[in-house]
Amino acid sequence: MHFPLILLLGIGVYRGIEADSDCSPRPGEKNIASTGVATQSSLYLKDFPRLANDGIRSTYYYKGFCSCTTKESNPWWRLDLQRTWKIRSVVLVNPSDCCINLLWGAQIRIGNRSDNNNPVCGTITNAAAGSSTRLCCAGMEGRYVSVVIPGRKEWLSLCEVEVYPMLQDESECL
Ligand SMILES: *[C@@H]1O[C@H](CO)[C@@H](O)[C@H](O)[C@H]1NC(C)=O
Repeated sequence: MHFPLILLLGIGVYRGIEADSDCSPRPGEKNIASTGVATQSSLYLKDFPRLANDGIRSTYYYKGFCSCTTKESNPWWRLDLQRTWKIRSVVLVNPSDCCINLLWGAQIRIGNRSDNNNPVCGTITNAAAGSSTRLCCAGMEGRYVSVVIPGRKEWLSLCEVEVYPMLQDESECL
């Protein structure tokens, strides 16, 4: 009598875990980063924050495809999506021709506070030249997506930040 119920609950829990840990690309998934407004803690030369959410994935820093702050303590880059979204994954793209490993230890934070003090989705552990990292955010909800390098003096250079919403949220208005 109780066995099928326990089995169903078991499958439900298992599927929940599966959904949380798998955020591999879906066919036709829509990057919403360009709907937001980017800012950053400081500006190095003409490496404007919007270069990281312009939809161009090129990793050539010296050709002007990447944002960059000055070297400073706790540099950050922040995207204001103008409304809250349930976010499935965030992809960060490193420069290939400079800034090797600078992004190591950077955190992606998602929430409603405009001071970056939001829950952490994940941390970058591979910042090799030209590499990209996809972090699974399991439906974390917020208006702001921030990239922060905590605890050291660093440049923060991003060639692209892509933000993918949960499916039900995506169909809402795209
Ligand atoms: C952000 O605001 C939305 C809508 O009010 C809420 O559902 C969500 O939980 C908030 N996010 C955080 C991290 O507090």
